[in-house]
Amino acid sequence: MNEASYHISDLKKIYPGFELSVDNLSLCRGEIFCLLGPSGAGKTTLLRLLNFLEEPDEGEVTYGGAKYKPGNYSPSLSVMREITTVFQRPALLKENVWNNIVYPLKIRNKKIAPNGIVSIMEELGIKDLMKQKSKTLSGGEAQRVALARALVFNPNVLLLDEPTANLDPANIKIIERMVTKYTLEEKPTVVWITHNHFQAKRVGHRICLMEDGNIIEINDNESFFNSPEQQKTKDFLAG
Ligand SMILES: Nc1ncnc2c1ncn2[C@@H]1O[C@H](COP(=O)(O)OP(=O)(O)OP(=O)(O)O)[C@@H](O)[C@H]1O
Ligand SMILES: [Mg+2]
Repeated sequence: MNEASYHISDLKKIYPGFELSVDNLSLCRGEIFCLLGPSGAGKTTLLRLLNFLEEPDEGEVTYGGAKYKPGNYSPSLSVMREITTVFQRPALLKENVWNNIVYPLKIRNKKIAPNGIVSIMEELGIKDLMKQKSKTLSGGEAQRVALARALVFNPNVLLLDEPTANLDPANIKIIERMVTKYTLEEKPTVVWITHNHFQAKRVGHRICLMEDGNIIEINDNESFFNSPEQQKTKDFLAG
């Protein structure tokens, strides 16, 4: 097992008519943890708790050796800046592609090493777009820029909320390949929300099914898809 990065215990987030409840969950470095589940299951809510945008109502999250609880759920800026999220719809600055990609380095006062940046851009097939204004990019190009921007500062945690939901197969393939390679090489903690079982099967090390705010099953990829333990998982995969 790789090094743990998050440990969650007895976490609850309550909205009117909805309660997310995670009793016990550890996430590891170097692992792609896929979250599957129907709309409204609480996947994004869990992600927002992991990037400390949302405060839980109960419970505790340990991250980087420190404990965070309701009332004390704000890590320092430097800890927050180890964590990055890519959303379904890329939110880019109204600047060219290069400025978008180097922005996270600037705000972190990190060195801008052009070779490393260009090699990420090459792998994502966006090198030739360097000078193009972000608003003129296609959806797939914009999402590849968003991923480059997320990876360029070497995040410890990469949170992906349906990053390929609106993309065509060629773009999906590029993004899956990049995240898989990056995870293998740099060992971040990756949580990847997807509605696509096949995608989870292709990229996930462990797969988690959520329904109605609860975790139904967490299993390694092979067991989850070939011999799930829970009837609800079987129904979900069949459905
Ligand atoms: N800020 C909020 N205020 C009130 N209710 C909220 C808030 N955020 C989420 N919810 C509710 O929490 C529930 C879970 O939402 P969440 O976005 O986590 O689902 P999801 O699994 O990501 O769904 P989807 O697959 O559609 O993205 C939903 O019923 C949603 O309406
Ligand atoms: Mg969601």
